[in-house]
Amino acid sequence: MIQIEKLRKVYRTRGREVTAVDGVDLTVAEGEIFGVLGRSGAGKSTLLRCVNLLERPDSGRVLIDGRDLLALPGSQLRAARQGIGMIHQHFGLLGSRTVAGNVAFPLEVMGVPRAERAERVAELLDLVGLTEHARAYPAQISGGQKQRVGIARALAGRPKVLLSDEATSALDPETTASILELLRGLSRRLGLTVLLITHEMDVVKRICDSAAIMRAGRVVETGPVRELLLRPGSELARGLFPLPEPEPRAGTTVVDVTFDGDSADRPFVSSLARTYSIDVNILGGAVEQIGDGRVGRLRIELPGDPEVNAAQLAHLRDAGLTVEVREPAGADGASGADAEGAGGASGADADGTDGAGGAGGAAQDDDLGPDARTSEEAPLR
Ligand SMILES: Nc1ncnc2c1ncn2[C@@H]1O[C@H](COP(=O)(O)OP(=O)(O)O)[C@@H](O)[C@H]1O
Ligand SMILES: [Mg+2]
Repeated sequence: MIQIEKLRKVYRTRGREVTAVDGVDLTVAEGEIFGVLGRSGAGKSTLLRCVNLLERPDSGRVLIDGRDLLALPGSQLRAARQGIGMIHQHFGLLGSRTVAGNVAFPLEVMGVPRAERAERVAELLDLVGLTEHARAYPAQISGGQKQRVGIARALAGRPKVLLSDEATSALDPETTASILELLRGLSRRLGLTVLLITHEMDVVKRICDSAAIMRAGRVVETGPVRELLLRPGSELARGLFPLPEPEPRAGTTVVDVTFDGDSADRPFVSSLARTYSIDVNILGGAVEQIGDGRVGRLRIELPGDPEVNAAQLAHLRDAGLTVEVREPAGADGASGADAEGAGGASGADADGTDGAGGAGGAAQDDDLGPDARTSEEAPLR
């Protein structure tokens, strides 16, 4: 288990101060895969480096299995850090060493005797499916295989905690999927607690039990992934289910409906249409496999302003669905005089980020854009 408490890290360079991590609280449960999402510059890497103490935080605490890392004396700290494995985006392999040699390296540093080392290397290579490539050099293997070496190396010291900084960001989608699959399998088999950071929504969708979204050094949203997706106003939901911006149409109500696996089997659209004898227009939507179940999101349009749809909205909520009424586009402009009625219902988008969606244009890109500049105001998409 990893507990991060009120963590703060400020970089000071030539008179400039950057608060990279600004009071972060996070708990990663034993055996869980926890994803931290955020745009470039959000403070994700700094957070991770504070967890394995590559970076000394200015204040706050990091506890691993209840032990306060910052309070440990040097000798115990080294041992504690051995219990933390780390994998990186660019693998960091030694080009002059074979695959087996790279995996053996941390064992040599730990002073593991030669015979035991060989045995352990074989075991580790088997774990990541690289036995046949033991004698290859990094230049002779693919990116995915290099990351497998990185993972084997990170597991050498039998860590209980694995940290991953954009481990799949340099890989193509297919290879990414296989690496994520491997990580999930290893986490289950070895009881590893995994804290991974990524700017890719897809990573969270595929393997994370819980997630947090970071922006400008702070956690703005956190919880179990399925729970987050069903929470009104969730940025994660918006990111995972990119929906086309609706054409602003006067006299209609646009509603985002999020549902979990159970309600996915219930035909709520036809039930709504039948019960109220209305035409329900489907504007977009998707159903995604999240962990063991399905979560779906649908954007629908009902005739009439939000005020006249109170019963219809209650009907959806009573069916156990998460219901968010979209404010009419251009709510502060000519056409959207009714924004108040809609906004009050769900409390979503309090920061008005959705209204900015149109300005961004290509909102369909399924990640946060590795090179996008951070802005306190910018939504994830
Ligand atoms: N070593 C450093 N010295 C000064 N500023 C840094 C350093 N590392 C990161 N930063 C700054 O801290 C902020 C967070 O960076 P980082 O943790 O790398 O974000 P992320 O991993 O989310 O892209 C950025 O504004 C970055 O420029
Ligand atoms: Mg980073």
